[in-house]
Amino acid sequence: MEDYRKFISQLSLPYLGTPLELIPSIFDTLTEKFYLKRNSSQKFIDLGSGNGRIIIFSAVNYGVKSVGIEIDENLIEEAKETIKSLKREKKIHRKLFKLIEIRNEDLFTQDLQEYDFIYIYSLPSMQKSLNHVFKTTKPEAIIISFKYELKGFDSYLQYEDCLEIKHENKVWKVDFYKKI
Ligand SMILES: C[S@@+](CC[C@H](N)C(=O)[O-])C[C@H]1O[C@@H](n2cnc3c(N)ncnc32)[C@H](O)[C@@H]1O
Repeated sequence: MEDYRKFISQLSLPYLGTPLELIPSIFDTLTEKFYLKRNSSQKFIDLGSGNGRIIIFSAVNYGVKSVGIEIDENLIEEAKETIKSLKREKKIHRKLFKLIEIRNEDLFTQDLQEYDFIYIYSLPSMQKSLNHVFKTTKPEAIIISFKYELKGFDSYLQYEDCLEIKHENKVWKVDFYKKI
């Protein structure tokens, strides 16, 4: 049953990584427009964190608590390997890695009230199932939706901004929303 649930989840939202080159611009926008503060008590979460690239970036470069929720153990293993090899390089202060927490859980069962920034790379087809999850966010929390805009949450998510980044002959969109 557990495996079946994971299988269905992966079908509705398979692994696609946010291109690495785009991540700094997304965080620049969070800093410039949405008050993300380095080394603060703010909390960041990636719903479906894949190989951990977003939360590793936020912890290492911004020094904030960074949580990843991921259903696929292999991707969690990949994230842990990346963290290990970064630690071995010894270029990054070890305390920053302590800010990273990856949980092998279902994103549809999360309570988001403690998070200031919620990142999601979802697909339009599964967004309707996110209503009860986004409803748990606290007022003023910022939701960052990579590639696909969020539809059907107008009563409590206010559209704030859109970032368009050109990369490899494509324009990638990132939409920012605020919980009202
Ligand atoms: C489109 S990828 C995004 C990965 C990462 N956020 C990024 O931008 O690089 C979506 C991720 O969600 C995971 N996923 C799918 N269903 C899930 C669920 N129910 N709970 C937790 N993770 C899930 C997939 O395994 C995949 O890694």
